[in-house]
Amino acid sequence: RNLLRATFLYFSANPNPPITGKMGSIGVLLVAQVVPYLEQELDKRYKLFRIWDYPQKEQLLSHHTSSIRAVVGASGAGADAELIEALPKLEIVSSFSVGVDKIDLEKCKEKGIRVTNTPDVLTDEVADLAIGLMLALLRRICECDRYVRSGKWKQGEYKLTTKFSGKTVGIIGLGRIGTAIAKRAEGFNCSISYYSRTEKRDSKYKYYPSVVELASNCNILVVACPLTEETHHIVNREVINALGPKGFLINIGRGKHVDEQELVSALLEGRLGGAGIDVFENEPYVPEELFGLENVVLLPHVGSATVETRTAMADLVLGNLEAHFLGKPLLTPLV
Ligand code: DGY
Repeated sequence: RNLLRATFLYFSANPNPPITGKMGSIGVLLVAQVVPYLEQELDKRYKLFRIWDYPQKEQLLSHHTSSIRAVVGASGAGADAELIEALPKLEIVSSFSVGVDKIDLEKCKEKGIRVTNTPDVLTDEVADLAIGLMLALLRRICECDRYVRSGKWKQGEYKLTTKFSGKTVGIIGLGRIGTAIAKRAEGFNCSISYYSRTEKRDSKYKYYPSVVELASNCNILVVACPLTEETHHIVNREVINALGPKGFLINIGRGKHVDEQELVSALLEGRLGGAGIDVFENEPYVPEELFGLENVVLLPHVGSATVETRTAMADLVLGNLEAHFLGKPLLTPLV
């Protein structure tokens, strides 16, 4: 009787009592591939549904919609309007990524659904990779590696590469990641210029109010802005032509920032010096025309993919979900 009374008093005083152990009855829908650690932890703590276990999406939705209170996505998939509408009990969408272009934020706002992402913890990784792509591309590191492995070195083809130090780096988007890239490039004595919707008053870097102007005045153009309707194909034919046959493009943002067909044509026609690409328009599809080109470096969307950072991202997803279900402030709220 005492135990019952204590339980009653406790629950009356705590409208959001701590959920300990397995939060078994809370349904979480995983819609994208994430690190095994995150998937395992979600499975331990919640009633986990994986969207790929239901070849007929309707099957999942018709049986389980009433228990699904959270969606976990990533850069490949999130929550579009259709999914949000199909989940009447949805309270939170937590993305295992900083980019949230796969989430219908307006719909979430309209329905009072919270949204979280994983900013900050991946800034260094993505910025490091952007510099890595610049070095790999200009100093032809991957190409030289292929040359050595093929045994062709013995035949003595003369290799010349392009100097990176001192180049002008033009950055589209001077947010967290863009700024981290700028700082690193400064270490290589590069001059930094940037484009963003508005000039940053406190920035020491040169501002261009248009991407074409930025591209005309830099050696290396880097895409580091979020993907929105406005920035879709922000790198188009005009921008690529402005960058020119001696210019290099680095994309560590999203594939849809760049008009990929235009990029492929420009590279095949020699209108662009080269490209270092971590992200593609329809991942994991990569235009096959690129495979035969030496002046491209192609990566499988690994900007934030280090063990350390992906673990920190996973912990943020778990922390945000836990905070939400305990009625505490979210760690990294977006909506
Ligand atoms: C992100 O976080 O948005 C990166 O693209 C890694 O997925």
